[in-house]
Amino acid sequence: MKYFERMQKKFELLKNKKDVIILSIESSCDETSVAVVKNGRVVLSNIIASQIEIHRRFGGVVPEVASRNHILAISNIFEEALKEAGITKNEIDAVAVTYGAGLIGALLVGVNFAKSLAYSLDVPLIAVSHVYGHIAANYISHQSLKPPFICLMVSGGHCAILNVISYNDFRLLGSTMDDAVGECFDKVARVLGLPYPGGPEIDKLAKEGEKKYNFVHSTALKNTLNFSFSGMKTAVVNFVHNKQQKGEEIDKANIALSFQDEVTDELVEKTVKASINAKINKIVVAGGVGANSMLREKFANVCEKNGISFYSPVLKYCTDNAAMIGSAGYYLLKSGIGLADLSLTAKATVAL
Ligand code: KG4
Ligand code: ZN
Repeated sequence: MKYFERMQKKFELLKNKKDVIILSIESSCDETSVAVVKNGRVVLSNIIASQIEIHRRFGGVVPEVASRNHILAISNIFEEALKEAGITKNEIDAVAVTYGAGLIGALLVGVNFAKSLAYSLDVPLIAVSHVYGHIAANYISHQSLKPPFICLMVSGGHCAILNVISYNDFRLLGSTMDDAVGECFDKVARVLGLPYPGGPEIDKLAKEGEKKYNFVHSTALKNTLNFSFSGMKTAVVNFVHNKQQKGEEIDKANIALSFQDEVTDELVEKTVKASINAKINKIVVAGGVGANSMLREKFANVCEKNGISFYSPVLKYCTDNAAMIGSAGYYLLKSGIGLADLSLTAKATVAL
């Protein structure tokens, strides 16, 4: 019997197995990560090799450099993940891997490693979308959290409001018309001379700032659940350049706070609107920008006032990691979807 036919049978059997151990791999950007996750909720290990220091001197991620460093790191990270989880290769029930969206060369390292591993262990291979992984970061952070809920997905590549109907059924309610939020944080940070990645730097600096400027964004999308941040980003960049040309001092903390305050207001307002419209009183934030302290604080306050429960991932699961992919892989398996064959390849974009 061919590998895929054997796996279809094993996949079916795993659906009803009491304890399922998934080894998961994430390599979509600049983090090489391997995790071991039990039953989609218990993280036995989650090893991350971050390349931030390597890319910092370029001011952003250089795709080819990222791929090469994933290759150097992945075997050791895999061994470390097994060791920390206290399991052997033979205890792995399935391998889950991020196949997209992300940098093609970077993704290919994880996908090829996962394919070889699944084939050599004769276990099923599960293809996981990165966005789905970010949502699942909440399942490993909050053991009793279950869909349905409204999710604000904000990362370096995405900005969207989703109605998460069940573990594997989402509806897109709104999304960015131009830049992703993380991208704007990174660009604004760059113009302020802050290191990559800019989001956490703006977050930190804004704590010392005052709301001195009004970087107003477009009102064209006011009555929709869509976003546009590119105009505001350009306004900040132009404002800073203008000051620099005049030789004036740049009050970085006030600019960081003014920008962050405007962006987070918009994100919170539209997500709460989506929750009220859909009569779903549970809001979940996902993705790297979900680590933003002001965003979390505003959500917590507004949700409390509106009788909405609010969830955000534990900080270490907000940004890219493999544990979230292991959780997402488990719920795909439970629904009998996501089984991949050995022709699985990386995808730069994946529909939400
Ligand atoms: O989810 P993620 O790790 O990778 C992608 O899938 O894109 O998100 C990375 C993005 C970067 O743009 C980074 O600047 C932003 O998340 N980020 C933050 C914070 N921490 C990370 N943005 C705002 N505030 C933060 N604390
Ligand atoms: Zn991500």
